[in-house]
Amino acid sequence: MRTRDRLVVCIVIGVVALSAFWALREPPSSRSISEDAVFPTLTPEAIPLVTGDESIIDIFTRSGCPVCHLIPGIPGANGQVGPPLWLGTTGRERLRDPTYHGSATTVHEYIVESVLEPQHFIVHGYPEHTMPAWYGSKLSALALQKMASYLEHQEEEKRIESPEK
Ligand code: HEC
Repeated sequence: MRTRDRLVVCIVIGVVALSAFWALREPPSSRSISEDAVFPTLTPEAIPLVTGDESIIDIFTRSGCPVCHLIPGIPGANGQVGPPLWLGTTGRERLRDPTYHGSATTVHEYIVESVLEPQHFIVHGYPEHTMPAWYGSKLSALALQKMASYLEHQEEEKRIESPEK
C-alpha cells in the first residue's frame, strides 16, 4: 500500500516537472520573435541604389516594394504584407485620418513621407516596424518623386478594369 502511495507521488511530481519543463521550453518572447519572422525582411544591403533614371517598373522592382505591396501596373507586384499602393483611392483618407500626425498636406507628400519616415503613420490593420525605414539612403530624390507621381494616380478600380496587365 505504501509503495503504491509513493508511486502516485512520484507520478504527480513527474507530471508537474514535465509541464514546468514544457512551459519553460517556449517562453512568450521567443514565440513573438517567430511570429515576426513570418513577414519578409529586406536588408539595405540587398537593395541597389536607385537613381530614378530607370524605367518606372525597374524603380519599384529594384527597390523591393513588390515583395510587400500590390502595385497596379507593376508585373509581379502582388505583395500582401503592406496595403495595396493605389493611393489615388486611399491617399486622401490617410490625410483625413484623425490619427495621422505627419506633415504631408497632399497625397504626393504623404507617399514620400511614408517611404522616408514610415513610423509617422501606421496604416490600420497592418504591422508596424515592417515597412523599411532606411529607404532614404537608397532612393534618389528623383526616384522618390517618380514613385509618388505614379502611385498617387493609381486607383483601386484600375486593376479590375485592366485585367490584361
Ligand atoms: C518588408 C515589407 C515592405 C517593403 C519592402 C515595403 N513596404 Fe511599404 N509598407 C509596408 C507595410 C507593412 C506598410 C503598412 C504599415 C505602415 O504604414 O508602416 C507599408 C506602408 C506603405 C505606404 C503607405 C500606404 C498607405 O496605404 O497609406 C506606402 C506609400 C508604402 N508603404 C510605399 C512603399 C514603397 C514605395 C516601397 C518600396 C520603395 C515599400 N513601401 C516597400 C511594408 C513594406
